[in-house]
Amino acid sequence: MSGQKNYLVTGANRGLGLEFTKQILQAGHNVYAACRNINDIEDLDLLFAEYKDKLIVVNLDINDHNSILSLSEKLKDTSIDVMINNAGTIGPLPYFENTFKQHYGTIDYDVWSDVFKTNLFGPVKMAETFLENIENGNDKKMIFISSVVGSIADDHQKAFAYATSKTALNKSVALLSDILKEKEIKVLAMCPGYVKTRMNGGGANLEPEESITGMLKQIEKLDLESSGSFVRYNGESINW
Ligand SMILES: NC(=O)c1ccc[n+]([C@@H]2O[C@H](COP(=O)([O-])OP(=O)(O)OC[C@H]3O[C@@H](n4cnc5c(N)ncnc54)[C@H](OP(=O)(O)O)[C@@H]3O)[C@@H](O)[C@H]2O)c1
Repeated sequence: MSGQKNYLVTGANRGLGLEFTKQILQAGHNVYAACRNINDIEDLDLLFAEYKDKLIVVNLDINDHNSILSLSEKLKDTSIDVMINNAGTIGPLPYFENTFKQHYGTIDYDVWSDVFKTNLFGPVKMAETFLENIENGNDKKMIFISSVVGSIADDHQKAFAYATSKTALNKSVALLSDILKEKEIKVLAMCPGYVKTRMNGGGANLEPEESITGMLKQIEKLDLESSGSFVRYNGESINW
């Protein structure tokens, strides 16, 4: 198929990552679907039955930099058009029972450090490690799934670990956009909306289908001029 692209999606076994994988496959592209637990991929297995030649499931724990390097070794001859850094954590689950660990007065600093490892160091290490694959792709795009709660202007979420991890991710996206412009690599920080996934325990208002359809449209539109911006799934720009 002409125009067929290679996508690398992290956290592809559930939630938004799974829906990204599904919609990208439906559009006729190839997906390297990265999951940290290869024994917990039932939904991907169902997709595999339909898209055997386009879905490649790969193992990746973004907290473990050796795991990132070993995936990069496996994919060393593969060009990547779009890398979607989607894997992330809101902190220990169930969220509402553990949220005090992120609240002022009862902060658990080990939790804060773990959340930074996953939401900040992991995606930035991915950006460093897969640079050459992306330079060899046609689209040259790195996407970072952030959240509006990382916006300095947002005051809804009082969870120190999660909110600040996304703020720091946003700053990293701004730095990457500047550094990678000369290589014509475009980067984007996105908020998916408040989506019904395991992460938020059912209080959300948006279906994954709608969020991902919107985000894929924004990713398609991304160019050098809009590189380094922070947008909602529906294209609205978000205050840093
Ligand atoms: N849902 C929302 O309303 C919302 C809003 C704003 C932003 N986000 C962001 O959207 C992204 C996806 O979240 P989601 O809602 O789809 O949540 P989810 O259903 O909890 O899925 C999170 C995914 O990340 C993976 N993951 C977590 N830690 C990982 C690690 N160390 N290495 C590799 N994979 C890891 C999980 O793997 P396992 O299955 O193995 O745990 C899972 O596949 C996150 O970055 C999140 O912060 C979500």
